[in-house]
Amino acid sequence: MADFSPIATDYQRRASVQLSAGEALLEMLAVAPGEDVLDLACGPGALTARLRGITRGRVAGCDAAAGMIAEARRQHGDAGIEFVECDAAALPFMDEFDAIYCNSSFQWFADPAAVLAGCLKALRPSGRMAMQSPAKAEFCPAFIQAVEGLREHAETRDVFARYKSPWLFLETAGNYARLFADAGFEVAESRMETVSSRCSPEQAMEIFRSGAALAYLNPQCYVGEAPPDYPARAAAIIADALQAQAGPDGLVSLDFHRIYLLARKNSG
Ligand SMILES: C[S@@+](CC[C@H](N)C(=O)[O-])C[C@H]1O[C@@H](n2cnc3c(N)ncnc32)[C@H](O)[C@@H]1O
Repeated sequence: MADFSPIATDYQRRASVQLSAGEALLEMLAVAPGEDVLDLACGPGALTARLRGITRGRVAGCDAAAGMIAEARRQHGDAGIEFVECDAAALPFMDEFDAIYCNSSFQWFADPAAVLAGCLKALRPSGRMAMQSPAKAEFCPAFIQAVEGLREHAETRDVFARYKSPWLFLETAGNYARLFADAGFEVAESRMETVSSRCSPEQAMEIFRSGAALAYLNPQCYVGEAPPDYPARAAAIIADALQAQAGPDGLVSLDFHRIYLLARKNSG
């Protein structure tokens, strides 16, 4: 599993696309003022703090990365939020929350059925869950195109041939709805969106480092050994490729395919 701890302190500065998607997910979940809410895979807690500002009820954030939980406690330790280090597939909650919020993390869950079973247990009857994550194998065409350079480059092609994606990416909103329905949820809404922005190649690389790099530059995502200098070499090739994508205005187009899903615990 990718460990987000090493990027915990830099995450928020780099994570503009996750945080703006998270604002739209807050609207979808529509937390009422007294509700108890769990932020599943909360990272350093910026969006957990947004939830804290919306409800007077209990707010908890959990994440598998010790560094993310430490950073969340450092930034929001006095905000009245419980931060818990745990894997999303082994949630320690039973019948405790009205709502679960899960932003930009579901793609990392190796065992989504176990995660969803734990979410159903954690929710009270008729509780609901809102989830947003990047979607489709081609989740961000600019990143895919930049990473494809690793396949051709003499310095990286042999190692990149052994890359194994750790991500869960489904191709349609219906695929995601089926996953949640099979787990026992009633799906109220499942929609796919493409969110577009333009930014400098340097900003695009920062965004890459807030998530995609944890897979493409992670030796654990390669079958067999990767040389120690592979992550740095691969990062340099990807940064060059993003530079080459810049248009006459010096900017790169970043399109992200995203799934937004709202589901209820089926209490019947
Ligand atoms: C891209 S960050 C998103 C953080 C936050 N939700 C946000 O929107 O800014 C993904 C987070 O998922 C966490 N994560 C990945 N796999 C996990 C798992 N199996 N259980 C719990 N957390 C996990 C990572 O540690 C990381 O903090």
